[in-house]
Amino acid sequence: MSSPHSTARERAHAYKVVIPAAGLGTRFLPATKAIPKELLPIVDTPALQYIVEEAVDAGLKQVLVIVGRGKEAIIDHFDHAPELEAALEKKGDSDRLKSVQRSAELADVHYIRQGEPRGLGHAVNCAAPYVGQEVFAVMLGDDLIDARDDLLGPMLEVQQAFGGCVVALMEVPHDQVSMYGCAAVEAVQAPAISAPRSIGDVVRITDLVEKPTPEDAPSNLAIIGRYVLSPEIFDALDRTPPGRGGEVQLTDAMKLLASEGHPIHGVVFTGRRYDTGDRGDYLRAVVRLAAEREDLGPSFVEWLGEFLHEFQTERSVSS
Ligand code: G1P
Repeated sequence: MSSPHSTARERAHAYKVVIPAAGLGTRFLPATKAIPKELLPIVDTPALQYIVEEAVDAGLKQVLVIVGRGKEAIIDHFDHAPELEAALEKKGDSDRLKSVQRSAELADVHYIRQGEPRGLGHAVNCAAPYVGQEVFAVMLGDDLIDARDDLLGPMLEVQQAFGGCVVALMEVPHDQVSMYGCAAVEAVQAPAISAPRSIGDVVRITDLVEKPTPEDAPSNLAIIGRYVLSPEIFDALDRTPPGRGGEVQLTDAMKLLASEGHPIHGVVFTGRRYDTGDRGDYLRAVVRLAAEREDLGPSFVEWLGEFLHEFQTERSVSS
């Protein structure tokens, strides 16, 4: 039991986190024919490892990954690799040995298989037996949150203050709302949270629309892939018919809860988020994170500057 004086981080140990990773990754074919999309490297670390590290940084160490057919490499990544570790040890390559062991020791990772890809809502509902009657977090792998900018921790604090569900929102340009779940919100007195600079307003959500047209969007506040959910979501998911794309949408289940007066709040994130969901965004995330790395960054940025200069010069000569 946590004492009333325990910190948010200490209390966070009680929360489980669910990471859906059963999607087909079609936007990255043919790379994702045999490799799970979640393991595509951002520089030298699989995208999914960034997500698990973010959970661990917020104090959440009980992780459930929802996998599907062909995702066995994810299980291997978060497990020990005795032969590889022995080979690195023999060579005395302790840095690489540590990096290999890190993903196996990072968190307590469990798996459930989603038999058919029937949508994000269906994937989250597969976690019901693991989660039980507890508040839990959901993290989507296409959204990377910069490790310097807190999001999950403040979301847990808002959930403790208001109960119900809490989603992360971010302002996006109006012409991009159709890529996201979108929220209708009203102002609310923000609770006293240990607000880091990466958090803007805390709002009450009155309605949600999954991937609206810009004309139908209730605002330009988009759901980014972090949720803190109360267990009522499972009953709501059971009652949610397939929606957009013929899939059971998590957004629709939260909309149902909101319509029934269940508290749903939004935390507006103002920090650094990297979208890795499509190829262009993925490339931008890789370049940005490589540029910021202490080990690779300085020489990479120098090369990048030269490359861009040469590239533009060649272009202007040939046009
Ligand atoms: C999912 C959610 C959507 C949310 C988005 C964030 O969509 O359904 O509400 O805005 O993640 O990345 P997806 O990107 O999986 O289509």
